[in-house]
This record gives sequence, C-alpha cells and structure tokens, in this order.
Amino acid sequence: QTAYTWAGRFSEPMSELVKRYTASINFDQRLWRQDIRGSLAHARMLARQNIISAADLADIERGMAQITAEIESGEFVWSLDLEDVHLNIEKRLTALVGDAGKRLHTGRSRNDQVATDIRLWLRDTIDAILDLLGKFQTRLLDLAECEADTPMPGFTHMQVAQPVTFGHHLLAWFEMTRRDGERFADARRRANVLPLGAAALAGTTYPIDRESVAAALGFSGVCKNSLDAVSDRDFAVEFCAAAALLMMHFSRISEELVLWMTPRFGFIRIADRFCTGSSIMPQKKNPDVPELARGKTGRVYGDLITLLTLMKGQPLAYNKDNQEDKEPLFDAADTVTDTLRIFAEIIGGIETRPQAMRDALRQGFATATDLADYLTRKGLPFRDAHEVVGLAVKRAEALGVDLPQLALSELQAFSPLIDKDVFTALTIEGSLAARNHIGGASPQQVRAAIGRARAKITCP
Ligand code: ARG
Repeated sequence: QTAYTWAGRFSEPMSELVKRYTASINFDQRLWRQDIRGSLAHARMLARQNIISAADLADIERGMAQITAEIESGEFVWSLDLEDVHLNIEKRLTALVGDAGKRLHTGRSRNDQVATDIRLWLRDTIDAILDLLGKFQTRLLDLAECEADTPMPGFTHMQVAQPVTFGHHLLAWFEMTRRDGERFADARRRANVLPLGAAALAGTTYPIDRESVAAALGFSGVCKNSLDAVSDRDFAVEFCAAAALLMMHFSRISEELVLWMTPRFGFIRIADRFCTGSSIMPQKKNPDVPELARGKTGRVYGDLITLLTLMKGQPLAYNKDNQEDKEPLFDAADTVTDTLRIFAEIIGGIETRPQAMRDALRQGFATATDLADYLTRKGLPFRDAHEVVGLAVKRAEALGVDLPQLALSELQAFSPLIDKDVFTALTIEGSLAARNHIGGASPQQVRAAIGRARAKITCP
C-alpha cells in the first residue's frame, strides 16, 4: 500500500507548502461525529444491497466504535498528511480493520460525503440555536409580563414620540426574534436532504438505495440531481443570511441596552456580571457584552459575504473552493450560539428604573398626539387639530412645562373644544389605555399579546 491516498497516479508526493495550503483538518475535524454517522449509514446500506459483506460491515462498525472512543478520549492522532477529517478517519479505520475499511468508500466520494457531513452538522446546530432562541424569548416574555404596565417613552428619530410600556418594547424584540426562528427553521428544511449517492458528481454504478440512507440519517429526502448535490451550498448561505439578520436584531437590541444604561437615560441597570470596569477610571461600569454583540454582528455579515462570494464563480460540479465554506459557517454558528446564550442570561440581569422612564416621558410632550386626537374626536379636522396642538406645545415649551401642566383656561385659549376631560387624554396612563387594539401599547393589549406570544415561542 502506498503512502498517500492517490499515489497510484502520482510520481511524487505533494510539497509541504501545498499540503498545508490544501489541508482542512485543522477546522473540519469538528465534523467527525457527522462523518462517522454518515459512513455507518452508507456502510449499512452497502451491506443491505450486498455490495459489501455482512462481515465487512461488522468490521467497519467495530472500527468506527473504536475511532469514536479514541477521538472522544483525545487519543486520536489527526494528521495533516491525511488532509481532512474524511481521510483521517478512513485511514485509521483501515489500520484497525484492514480491507473492510478500504471497502467503505465504495460508491461514495468525499464530494457527497462532505456535503452530507455539513448538512448533518448544520441540522444539529440549527436545532441548538432554535432551542437557545426559545430560552431567550421565554425570559423576554417573563420580563415583559412584569413590565406590561411600566410606561416609557417610545422614540422616533431618538426624540420622545409617544408613551409605550417597557413590556410593549420588549414584545417588539420578541417579534424580531420570532421571525429569526422561522428563518432558521426554514433554512433547516432545505438543508435536510441527503447528498450521498451523488458520489463524485455523476452518481455511481453500484445498486445503491439512497432513500434508505436518507431515512437512516433522518433526512426528509434525497438531493434530486447528482451534480447539484455535490455543488450546492445554498443551505449554508441561507443559514448565514438568517444568522446575519439575527445578529442585526441583537445589535439593535444591544444598542438600546447601551443607551438605556447611560446615566442620561438611566432606564435600566445591567447586572455587574455582564459588565466590565476600566483599568484607569475607577468609577466605570461598561456594557461590554452588548457592545461586543454589536461588534460581532460585523463578522457574521462578513461570513455571509464570504460564502456568497465563494460560490459566485464556481462552475458545476464540486470545486475545491468549497472547502472554504466551513470556517465562515462555523464562525457564524458559534457567534450566534454564544450571543444567544449570553443574551438569555442578560435578560434575567436587567433591572428597570420606572421613575427614570417616567421622567423622560415628561420631557418631550409625549401626549401631544393624544391632544390632537382629543380635538379630532370633538369634530376638528385632524390637520387643524395638529396645528392647534403645535401652538399649545410651543406655549408650554416657552413656559417650561409639560402639556398637562397648562391650566384649562390656557388650553381653552387654543380651542374652545377643550374641556375638563382633556386631562384624561393628556396623562400617560390615559394615552396608553387609549391605544387599545391589537398591536397597540395599552397594558391590556400588551398582556394579551404576551399570552399569544407564549404560544409562538421558537422551538426546535
Ligand atoms: N475537504 C474537502 C472539502 O471540504 C472534502 C472534499 C474533497 N474533494 C475533492 N475532490 N478534493 O470540501
């Protein structure tokens, strides 16, 4: 037996530099479980179809059990000479069980093998992400429930706009992440088909049974075209696109946390275990975790762009370019997983400062729209009401007071339609209670929305 896998056709071995350049073992060894799982399903099918003997299958199963134990215990020696996870495991199998190990690759290529491994890995990864996303959402809804009545300013253009409740704001985050969950679940559906059987690119001459391999590995079906089966990385791109969107959401969430925890806002405090201090300024408590999440969003965008660019110039079928799919994919998955894990905890470490939220609400004429709506209800066309209230706001601003602090007589100077009942409309509670429709900010609606959201929590 020759020293390297394809020595038959070659007259000299690869140069050391080329070996290092072309090897993927340093990063693809994390696919080892999926690789062994796929190999066992393939070998069992070969035996069922009488392509290999029952004795060969028994040897392969015994060898793979030993390899699993060796990798788990850290004894397994990964070799750069053997390029990637597939050849490392196959070589060790042959060392352990002889010819049966050499028969494993019958009717298979690393091209359909690696595509299968990545799909298996991604499926498990998506399930873990969906589970973490659900945990985050559960804690988010728990907090929203506690804060369903806590008024805070809603902003547009970062200017105080109208009252909402903190619970209502958290429900917006819930909706964002619920869509993320749907996108991952959708990507999973398309990833969950079996490439094996495509072999190098054209299928194989052996009487294989692809459906049974798909069923054994829990795939919903088989890739329909052998060329596409080994070339397609859409599923990895889709995953990274979903990851990029999720990170965009967490970056926006982070930005709000950072703002809210500045003394200028003071809306929340984040537990010390999620903050860091300064090496020079003794007073500092910095929101490093949300800031890093905001920063790490950039690398996940980069992962997506890397994959899209990797694929755009490739003719069918397999090209070695594809080996570059793994690092961005792993990086996006790891970043999303860590981010979700940490945010599920941060939510439990948020302490709200309702008084600061209320104080902020008093500073931006947050119920001005309510006054316009009040006048409109009394018959004034909305555009006229808008102008009247604008004048009232200008007056209040000159006096340095909020709208409800203007005397009734002062308000009536702007419109004779204004009566005593105006003050209900001008209070924060009145403004909130009036937004009583699906999706609105009233505490009653927020509670109902939380109830509905509980049934929509993301799960694998
Ligand atoms: N390590 C390779 C990859 O990740 C496996 C497939 C290699 N196939 C080939 N024809 N060189 O894509």
